[in-house]
Amino acid sequence: QEDLFKNVISHAKEYGYIFASSEIYDGLSAVYDYGQNGAELKKNIKEYWWRSMTQLHQNIVGIDAAILMHPTTWKASGHVDAFNDPLIDNKDSKKRYRADVLVEDYAEKLLQKAEKEIAKAKKRFGEDFDSEMYKATNPRVQRYLGERKEILERLARSLTNEDLADVKALIEELEIADPDTGSKNWTEVRQFNLMFGTKLGASADSATNLYLRPETAQGIFVNFLNVQKTGRMKIPFGIAQIGKAFRNEIVARQFIFRMREFEQMEMQFFVRPGDELLWYEKWKQARLKWHKSLGLGEENYRFHDHEKMAHYANAAADIEFNFPFGFKELEGIHSRTDFDLKAHEEHSGKKLRFYDPELKENYVPYVIETSIGLDRMFLAVLSASLKEEQLADGNSRTVLKLPAVLAPTKAAILPLVKKDGLPEMAQKIVDDLKWDFRVQYDEKDAIGRRYRRQDAAGTPLCITVDHDSLEDQAVTVRFRDSMEQKRVPVEELDALIRKETDF
Ligand code: GAP
Repeated sequence: QEDLFKNVISHAKEYGYIFASSEIYDGLSAVYDYGQNGAELKKNIKEYWWRSMTQLHQNIVGIDAAILMHPTTWKASGHVDAFNDPLIDNKDSKKRYRADVLVEDYAEKLLQKAEKEIAKAKKRFGEDFDSEMYKATNPRVQRYLGERKEILERLARSLTNEDLADVKALIEELEIADPDTGSKNWTEVRQFNLMFGTKLGASADSATNLYLRPETAQGIFVNFLNVQKTGRMKIPFGIAQIGKAFRNEIVARQFIFRMREFEQMEMQFFVRPGDELLWYEKWKQARLKWHKSLGLGEENYRFHDHEKMAHYANAAADIEFNFPFGFKELEGIHSRTDFDLKAHEEHSGKKLRFYDPELKENYVPYVIETSIGLDRMFLAVLSASLKEEQLADGNSRTVLKLPAVLAPTKAAILPLVKKDGLPEMAQKIVDDLKWDFRVQYDEKDAIGRRYRRQDAAGTPLCITVDHDSLEDQAVTVRFRDSMEQKRVPVEELDALIRKETDF
């Protein structure tokens, strides 16, 4: 698994997906740049989400709010007072960690132990093994799972009560060591606010202190009434947004999983008070279905229902993805009550209410939020797609089996040789197709090597122009995943690519 993660990181660089930010200056920690292929993949993921939200739902519209917002926004939202992470330093290594993450990682190891036991038994008992039954009866599995549950519950209680001394005590009791050095010499745990500050205005004395937004959601809340009125929206309705968010995260080697500058795709769904838990359930299921529709493997997703809520929520769950370093949060679904709109009413003095013509009554709507990290989704797609395959002829190949709808390049057009008019014909095909699809012309190296290069870059189709093509106006289409080849008339290429790669 660790090897897979390393492979994903190096593959992402080698094929122009992700570079360290300002790399020539040795990079900036937890900040990354997207390369020529990464930018396309990211754009396609955005498009896939945006269309499913705003095009397939008549009652969801999209906006694009500013990153900089009035500073009172963050007072109202609770971020100034409560957007903290519990930090702990190791006195020997001088390294800094999130105390809750140290404990959660420990708990995750217990889960892995339990799963290992179950897998072993499965192997032993074969076909008719019932893992639920085994989980319920095997004492060792029960002990691991029970211990894990207790630890997580205690952590949640301590964080909710802000009892940081208890978090420290938990770390000591579990004898959690510095992951790098093994040292168990910890400082106290303290709170650290994650918002990035900046200043608005030229002169030092008249400047206003601002924050870079730590979530895109607040841009939606402050525009709730603008959108509702101008769009004549009726409850229930949603507002979607994709944009940058910034958090001064304490991070350790998690690549684009936890970044300081990242993008969110968020949707706030406004509902009648009292209906929120119904809609919460609906959105939970709808979002899981959306993820599964990409075909990265249904077994790679699971729900994690929260015991510890954020300061604004009355129900919350994560959709977790099986990343190369284990199951971790990919998307959050929160029932945010009327917390945000009420807080903005109070702080702004403006009413943020909806007149419900059916109920003949004004109210502050309740909100269900779906919030997904674009970069995390990118990492999920990339790591689930990267495969090393053994071939029948004894060779192996590296192939990036991206969902075709997300692939940066849909088809590569390859003249078999660099002469006899084949390049000209291939170029003509590119010039016809490029209006509808991102296609790429490639004539360098032997055809086999070009196929491998396109496999590794994630291109779903290769289109080869050979000498027969000049006669029969047909080409060979090779499919990335099956490596099957078939002869296709040039005039049918457009339809074929559309069928294979469209939404
Ligand atoms: N508006 C709610 C909100 O921001 P969150 O759980 O803090 O909730 C939502 O963040 C999603 O944003 C997460 O599920 C994750 O995918 C992504 N995310 C959060 N912090 C991130 C970071 N530092 N780097 C990358 N993605 C992050």
